[in-house]
Amino acid sequence: SQVDVDPASYDAGEHDSFMHKEILEQPARAEAVLRGRLDERFGTGHLGGLNLDARELRAIRRVKILGCGSAYYVGQMGASLLEELARIPADAEAASEFRYRNPIVEPDTLYVAVSQSGETIDTLLAVQEIQRKGGRVIGLVNVVGSAIARQVDGGIYLHAGPEVAVASTKALTNMYLAFAMLAVQLGRVRDLSIADGKRLIAGLTRIPEQIEQVLATEAELAVVAKRLAEAESLFFIGRVRGFPVAREGAQKFKEVSYRHAEAYQTSELKHGPLALISPDVPTVAIVPDDELVERNVAALHEIAARGGPLVVVTHEGVALGDLDGTLAGRIDVPRNERELDPILMTVPLQVLAYHAAQELGHDIDKPRNLAKSVTVE
Ligand code: AGP
Repeated sequence: SQVDVDPASYDAGEHDSFMHKEILEQPARAEAVLRGRLDERFGTGHLGGLNLDARELRAIRRVKILGCGSAYYVGQMGASLLEELARIPADAEAASEFRYRNPIVEPDTLYVAVSQSGETIDTLLAVQEIQRKGGRVIGLVNVVGSAIARQVDGGIYLHAGPEVAVASTKALTNMYLAFAMLAVQLGRVRDLSIADGKRLIAGLTRIPEQIEQVLATEAELAVVAKRLAEAESLFFIGRVRGFPVAREGAQKFKEVSYRHAEAYQTSELKHGPLALISPDVPTVAIVPDDELVERNVAALHEIAARGGPLVVVTHEGVALGDLDGTLAGRIDVPRNERELDPILMTVPLQVLAYHAAQELGHDIDKPRNLAKSVTVE
C-alpha cells in the first residue's frame, strides 16, 4: 500500500496546485538549507549533523548513494559533485535494487540515503541492510523524525518544508544543495584548495537568487511547455553532469503530463535512439557552457538534420549557429560555477512539466497511479 499526504491539511494559497506553490518556494527553501552551513572564511561546508570528525571524513575511500526515483537521480548529481570536488569515487544506485544483489558493504565507504519523505520502504531497507553489515549511513532527509531519519547514523536535514505534490521539486533542489555542501566539506579535508572552496561557497550563496531569476521566466517557459505537451513522446538528453538533469527532467515530465519522456546520454544517441527522431518527437537538450559544449551542439545538429524539434537549456552566449532560428525553445539559465550548473538547469524542467500538465488538464498534485510516498514493497 502507499501513504498519501492529505493536501487539505495544507494550503496552496493563490496557486492552482501545490506543485506550483512548491516550485515557487524554492528560492526561500534553498536559503533555508544553506543557512548556517557555509563557512566562507575557510571555504567549506559546516554540516554538524554528520557525526563524523575530520579524521573520519578523511578516512572515507568511497561514497555510495541510495535513493528511489527522483531522489536517485539527484543522487547521481551528488555523485558527480563528490567525484569532481572531493575526488572520492562515488556512485548512486536505485535503493530498490540494492539489497537484491547481496551488496558488498565496506567499512571505508560512506553510504548516503536520500529521501524527501524519509518513509520510502526500499530506501529504509537498504539502510538497514548496510547497517546490518556494519556500514555507516548518513541521511539526506526532509521529514524530521521520519523512519529513515531515525535509522541513519547522522545526516543533513533538507529544510524544504512540507512537500505535498507527488511530483517532488523543492526537496530535490535542497538534496542537490546538501550534496554540494557535503562535497565541498569532504573536498576541503582532502585536496580541494581554499580558493576553490571559497569559489564554490560563493557560488552556492548565489543559487537562491538565480533560481528566482529562472522562475521569473515562467511565462516564456509556459509557451515552450505548450508545444511540448502536444507530443506523444519526447527525449531529454544530456551528458556527464547534464545526464542526471535529463533523467530528472524526463521523470518530472512523465509523472504529471503522462507523456512518454525518455532520458538518454547525448553521446549515446547515435547508438540507437536517433532512429526515433522525427518532427513528431521533440528533444529537450541540456547544453551547459562547459568543456562539452561543442560536442553537445554537434549532436543538436544531428537531431535538427532529421527534423527533430529542439528545446535547448543552455547559457546566454552559447552559439548554436544556424540552429538558433529553428528552435522550439531556448532557455538560458544564469551562470554559476560549472560544477553547480545541474541545479539551475533542473528548475526550468520542473516548470515545463507543470505547465504541460496544466495544458493537458491533469490533476497536477495527484497524478494517476502514483502516491507521494511508497511505504511497502
Ligand atoms: C518524484 O517526483 C517522485 N514522485 C518519486 O520518484 C520520488 O522521488 C521517490 O518516490 C522517492 O521518494 P522519497 O524522496 O520520499 O524517498
